[in-house]
Amino acid sequence: MNKDKRKVVIAGNWKMNKTPAEAAVLINELKPIAEQADCDVVICVPYVDIPGAVALCEGSNVCVGAQNVHFEQSGAYTGEISAEMLTELKVSHVVIGHSERRQYFGETDETVCLRATAAVKAGLVAIVCVGETLEQREAGITEELIALQIKRGLSGFTADMMKNVVIAYEPVWAIGTGVTASNEQAEEVCAFIRKKLADMFGEATAEATTIQYGGSMNPKNAADLLDMENIDGGLIGGASLKSADFAVIVGAGSR
Ligand code: PGA
Repeated sequence: MNKDKRKVVIAGNWKMNKTPAEAAVLINELKPIAEQADCDVVICVPYVDIPGAVALCEGSNVCVGAQNVHFEQSGAYTGEISAEMLTELKVSHVVIGHSERRQYFGETDETVCLRATAAVKAGLVAIVCVGETLEQREAGITEELIALQIKRGLSGFTADMMKNVVIAYEPVWAIGTGVTASNEQAEEVCAFIRKKLADMFGEATAEATTIQYGGSMNPKNAADLLDMENIDGGLIGGASLKSADFAVIVGAGSR
């Protein structure tokens, strides 16, 4: 296993936080931080923040991502946004299948697959989220569930398409709770995900795929998590909203 083959991606998931004016303030704090970074730095912002964020990030090391995308190109889908709308604005990444989308908005592995396919075909990097609930972990079905999420969520994908996919392992019980998975717990599942990717797409693709950990990653735990062999980055919620915290995590990802 050679970690050097993979890109480290530190992505902030702002969720439903920051108005366009507030976003501008935070981005101006983040730009010098990203300047020093030796990893990919992405901020996944609310849709309405995208045009301003892209303009502010131009020429910097900060990439702008979205938090969802619809799978059709256009049509009668009130409230939805297409991949083309995002690429026209120079969005580079999109989060797909976040557990909050699965939990509150009826997202399934099947819709995750449709959205991820549309995103990758449009040239976006799809950050595909998987993760178990506490009940599922306690029932001992974590691996079974993750295997299904990967198999169904990436159904129809080719090794070539996987070049534009990042997997985010986010145990639901660790998201926004302040409870982080231990380094070993996170590593165990990320290694399992890589094994599944090898079964589906071959060893070389599995070794080249960035797998992030997400769930209460913070300045204190980031370095140790990112040191684990199969953890190649982070998807960060709460701590991505504070530039000082995000700076430490980006620093940890740059080592
Ligand atoms: P958190 O969120 O860092 O606030 O736990 C992570 C996520 O939901 O992506």
